[in-house]
Amino acid sequence: MKIKNICCIGAGYVGGPTMAVIADRCPEIKVEVVDLNKNRIDNWNNKDFDKLPVFEPGLAEIIKKCRGKNLHFSNLIKEKIKEADMVFISVNTPTKTQGIGAGKASDLKWVEACARQVALYSKGHTIVVEKSTLPVRTAEVIKSILEAAQASNNLRIKNTFEVLSNPEFLAEGTAINDLLNPDRVLIGGEKDDAIESLSEIYRGWVPEEKIIKTNIWSSELAKLTANAFLAQRISSINSIGALCETTGADVREVARAIGSDSRIGSKFLDAGPGFGGSCFKKDILNLVYLCEYFGLKEVAEYWEGVVRLNKWHQKRITNLIIKRLFGTLTGKKIVILGFAFKGNTNDTRESAAIQICKDLISEGAVICIHDPKVKLEQIAFDLNMNPFKKEHNKPFDSNIEGTWQSVKDIKKAFEGADAGLILTEWASYKKIDWQAISKVMRKPSWLFDSRSIIDPKTIANTNINFWRIGDGLDY
Ligand code: NAD
Ligand code: UGA
Repeated sequence: MKIKNICCIGAGYVGGPTMAVIADRCPEIKVEVVDLNKNRIDNWNNKDFDKLPVFEPGLAEIIKKCRGKNLHFSNLIKEKIKEADMVFISVNTPTKTQGIGAGKASDLKWVEACARQVALYSKGHTIVVEKSTLPVRTAEVIKSILEAAQASNNLRIKNTFEVLSNPEFLAEGTAINDLLNPDRVLIGGEKDDAIESLSEIYRGWVPEEKIIKTNIWSSELAKLTANAFLAQRISSINSIGALCETTGADVREVARAIGSDSRIGSKFLDAGPGFGGSCFKKDILNLVYLCEYFGLKEVAEYWEGVVRLNKWHQKRITNLIIKRLFGTLTGKKIVILGFAFKGNTNDTRESAAIQICKDLISEGAVICIHDPKVKLEQIAFDLNMNPFKKEHNKPFDSNIEGTWQSVKDIKKAFEGADAGLILTEWASYKKIDWQAISKVMRKPSWLFDSRSIIDPKTIANTNINFWRIGDGLDY
């Protein structure tokens, strides 16, 4: 079956960019992206491309090209499902907060709601594609909802469905490039004709040999496994970074040395403040839950260790800052550079910055947060605390403690500051003039670089003490 009309339910960090690329590469297909969230849809339709709800390099250009032609964003869920011959489910699948599996299992209520909407509104034959990351065997749940709806409707000719798993592997900040040049596209399914319909779309720009076809359960599990392996690498390198700091080794040198072994590979070995993002923790915990459910206690404990190490590592950073600032942060001013969970995104979900900033505030520090793309309202939401002032505009006031504010002017923020802490690797932070900054900071002053983006040589001839992740040397 040749696909002419796609409907994607969920206009988030995956639905938006993924559908934009499909619309761009397959101009003959009409792509409708729908969402319950009116504000989000309004922003996808905003004339000002700086207001798109997702910041991704290259995304605005594609939206400019396709929006209003074969790419549309709306809240018309019912109507667009009805018209579609293929429906992507790209909704959020967060960790359950209550009930059985709370804290580990994925909450599938939004996926279930989508399946019910498709069951209600679709017409004729519809291919339903799981784009969201889902526990193994979720396709079975979707199928039973679709089939139950058919059994209870009294149409003479029943609607028909096929369910495919097509997990997304894009990383935020490089999403467009990842979508345009994927390492692989994974399609899991039971029926060849449905798999072929989806493959045909991807063949519009992805070489055939990169399209991997598997059974549906392997596809679902491969997505969780990929994220678990990636997160495991980060916990592994961060654990070695801690050891480097106590032994005089340098984690960058260790990473280079091990990464040149082709069996290990050089990517994803950057020590940092701990992994963030909406998926690593959630997907590993989901894997842990599945293992526990199936009685594989040792396997569950093995993977849970990756998340435990990450949590410990974030606390370790806060603790070493406290130690260097004479054991107390009360009333001390710390400038935080970067709040997003990684560079080139406005996403803060599970960002290491959230826990670290909360801990610094609870120790009494006054933190001035800078991020080129994250809005003040988002920071206030994540910290669950309003800023004491909207904008930093005056020198350090020693009566204030245990609070935060957002800053735009980095040099001004450093006036009277005791320390700076780099948490996100924004390129602009590499260009900061530390000579000039050192003149306005209170002494002794510190710079903590959890992302290794500052060359120690540029700090050497300033009055700033320097700490760098995974570095056993003193500067
Ligand atoms: P998101 O929260 O940014 O977007 C999900 C959207 O779905 C929201 O806008 C929400 O309003 C909408 N939604 C929820 N239920 C709905 C319903 N019944 N009808 C219509 N709209 C509905 O989430 P995301 O980051 O895009 O992630 C989506 C899925 O993709 C998750 O399963 C995630 O694990 C997976 N994933 C995410 C990434 C990533 O980088 N963010 C990468 C790969 C896979
Ligand atoms: C990750 C995966 O890389 C994607 O393949 C996957 O599709 C996605 O999760 C998902 O399922 O949501 P993402 O979370 O967007 O993508 O970003 P990553 O580049 O993987 O970074 C995750 C976290 O690890 C960030 O906090 C990042 O700073 C950190 N990281 C990454 C390091 O600390 N060191 C590294 O070497 C790499």
